[in-house]
Amino acid sequence: MTLEAIIYENGKLKILDQLLLPSVSKYITIEGVKDGWNAINKMQVRGAPAIAIVGSLSLAVEIYNENFDSKQSFKQEIENKLNYLVSARPTAVNMKIAADDLTSLVRELANDEAVTLHELKSSFLKSAERMLAKDISDNKAIGKCGADEILSNVPADCAIKILTHCNTGSLATAGYGTALGVIRSVHERSRLEHVYCTETRPYNQGARLTAYELVHDKLPATLICDNMVASLFKHRCVSAVVVGADRVAANGDTANKIGTYQMAVVAKHHGASFYVAAPLTSIDLTITSGGCITIEERPEREMTHIGELRIAAPGIACWNPAFDVTPADLITGIITEKGVFKPKELKDKITELAATEKKNEIL
Ligand code: MRU
Repeated sequence: MTLEAIIYENGKLKILDQLLLPSVSKYITIEGVKDGWNAINKMQVRGAPAIAIVGSLSLAVEIYNENFDSKQSFKQEIENKLNYLVSARPTAVNMKIAADDLTSLVRELANDEAVTLHELKSSFLKSAERMLAKDISDNKAIGKCGADEILSNVPADCAIKILTHCNTGSLATAGYGTALGVIRSVHERSRLEHVYCTETRPYNQGARLTAYELVHDKLPATLICDNMVASLFKHRCVSAVVVGADRVAANGDTANKIGTYQMAVVAKHHGASFYVAAPLTSIDLTITSGGCITIEERPEREMTHIGELRIAAPGIACWNPAFDVTPADLITGIITEKGVFKPKELKDKITELAATEKKNEIL
């Protein structure tokens, strides 16, 4: 049975509170946009695709039973509330891309005289609701492309060891996962010898969430602390690292959970492949390089405390960036639902794909 972290039906939304995992599995109800913003900001839901889905669905919940005077007032409310949701966390681009897509849809339909207010609202709801199913099918495609790619580089009878970071599974997406989807797919082909997951300090998404998913799915898995990565490469012959992404720039530079960059450096030193697995909704072609990405800094309490227990000496200053940027030249490939791209070819390939899709829509 797969974990269902986001449950939506007919204007009602519940999410698994990730602050309580793994000790307590408790769903909380999201009543509207304010609850959505708080859940994202406090990290009751986290992971780039899940943030976008919960944010968009929290708006669907809010307007589900609301009556509007006109198409213009509907449009205005949607735009304002989407902008507010984008402000909950700055680094992951998925919520921004979802907001841009939903805003364009609403603007276009609001300006079309043939479309009624009722039709406008139901088109918006359908678009937001479709995100759950689309994310799962994208993740399955990412899993397949990634497993094909990684296994094509090893002998046919060989099982492999993979290292991953943070949580990119069912808890970070609508289900299956991105990097964890690739690992699941390798396992489904009986080619996964072992997966190693990092603890992912300071918030421990690896120890709390990835480890929870790996145990739940019965994958052969071992947890390591973040500072054991170089030793792992030296002693355990890891073939590949697969991580997720919060924002990939046009040149392939990738922002992901803090600690990703040092893993890429170590992988290069040991001659191992380093893959980023991400849906196209994590790729931001509007920025040229990773230097343009805003890196969120989180409260120091996430470093100084575990739960209620203070583990750092009182009075010490802390720096807590939630993400870092891995330079494109350390990345072997970016695994998407449409194929695996070298960082250098990413921009052209995605632009080409978008043009073909547009042409097919017209025909
Ligand atoms: O701070 P988080 O837990 O939201 O960070 C999550 C990550 O960095 C993930 O690797 C990324 O969002 C990809 S999730 C499929």
